[in-house]
Formats: sequence, structure tokens, C-alpha cells
Amino acid sequence: TTGGTDDQKRRAGERAAELVSDGDVVGLGTGSTAAHAIRALGQAVDDGLDLRGVPTSFDSRALAREAGIPLRSLDEVDGVDLAIDGADQVDEDLQAIKGGGAAHAREKVVDAAADRFVVVADPSKVTEALSRPVPVEVLPDAHAAVERDLTDLGGEPTLRRAERKDGPVVTDNGNLLFDCDFGVVDDPASLATGLSGLPGVVEHGLFVGLVDTVYVGTDDDVEVRRR
Ligand code: A5P
Repeated sequence: TTGGTDDQKRRAGERAAELVSDGDVVGLGTGSTAAHAIRALGQAVDDGLDLRGVPTSFDSRALAREAGIPLRSLDEVDGVDLAIDGADQVDEDLQAIKGGGAAHAREKVVDAAADRFVVVADPSKVTEALSRPVPVEVLPDAHAAVERDLTDLGGEPTLRRAERKDGPVVTDNGNLLFDCDFGVVDDPASLATGLSGLPGVVEHGLFVGLVDTVYVGTDDDVEVRRR
């Protein structure tokens, strides 16, 4: 949620919502930018557009319900036409880091299932190289083992702690989360493979080869970047 203005996020989210056609199944992303797309889609449903949304988190489900979007789970639909989701960082090759809101595991499942995956972002998310700590969701019982493995991979893992609770963040899936600092990630694809191979890792926040388009909302326009 850092960096950009709400206006920039709204511009990106609303423009992406315009991509939805009648009859589409739409992946509904998580975070403050995707929230603008969800609200715009709720408006479109009010205006008569026929769509079904597949939420990616507790929050996106609640927001979509409030907006009046008919919801389905992923196993109730034949496929996903389009997913619209935010990102914490996205590079020039459209590789992204997600999970700032701890929702990246379900986001990845839904976003990867989509025929077309559009990231909505503000200019503060766009970077030459990925450098933010990578969120890594882990089975609670495995957290000490994964912590050692992440260090062996060259990372500096920090267990994400809750702000208004004495204890760790627990994800929507009941798991724990490390933010693992790898500095500048030179080779996101090989790091992604390494992270996926660790026993106990449920999902990591590196999105490689998944994003088709990025809509970057600016102060007066939307910049479109394609792979
Ligand atoms: C949720 O875990 C993340 O992957 C979000 O998609 C990401 O944090 C983007 O959120 P904002 O649009 O609020 O920055």
C-alpha cells in the first residue's frame, strides 16, 4: 500500500475493470489498488454486466459481496477469463513481488488460472529490478526448518508479526509468513524455483512469467506495459 496516491490507484483499477466483457469469470485481487477495480465491477454489475468473481482473499470476498458481485470459488468455474490484481513491485520484464497483504498464495492460484492476468499499480511499484523482501508462506510446524533453508538460500528471513496482536501474522490459510530479504534479486526465475522446492513452503510471492499486462495509473493517465 506504500507510495502511490489513491487517485493513481483508482485510475489503474477502473481502467482494468473496463476489460471485463459480458459473461466473464474474473479473478478479484487483493489490496488497495485491486479494490478500485472491484468497486468499478460492482458498479458495472449494477448497470447490467453479467460476471462472476473469484475472490483471492477474505478481504476481496467481503468487498466484492458488498459491491454486489456474484461470487464463485475456483472449483465452481470452468476457467478464469481475466484476473485483476495489485502488486508490491513489478519490474521491466513484468516479474512481480506480491504478498504485502499476505494474500499471495490464493492470489497466485487464481491469477495463474486466468487466461489473462492484469496487474494494477501506481508508479511507486515499478522498478528496474525486484528488491523488496519476498513474502514466503509456511506451514506453522515447518517454520524453524524453513527459516534455516531460507538463510541457506542467501536470504534474511523475518517472521511477519501482527500489529495489533502479540504474535505472528496468520494467513487466510492458517499459515505463517516470512518476509525474506534477498537484496536485489538477480534471477527471479531461479530464486522462485529454489523457494518452491523447500519442504514446508506453501507459496512465495515471486510471480514469474504470469503477468500479461501492467496498468500503471499516473496523475492524469494510465500507462500500459505488455510482455
Ligand atoms: C496482497 O498480499 C498483495 O499481493 C497485494 O496484491 C499487494 O500488496 C498490492 O496492494 P496495494 O494495491 O494496496 O499496494
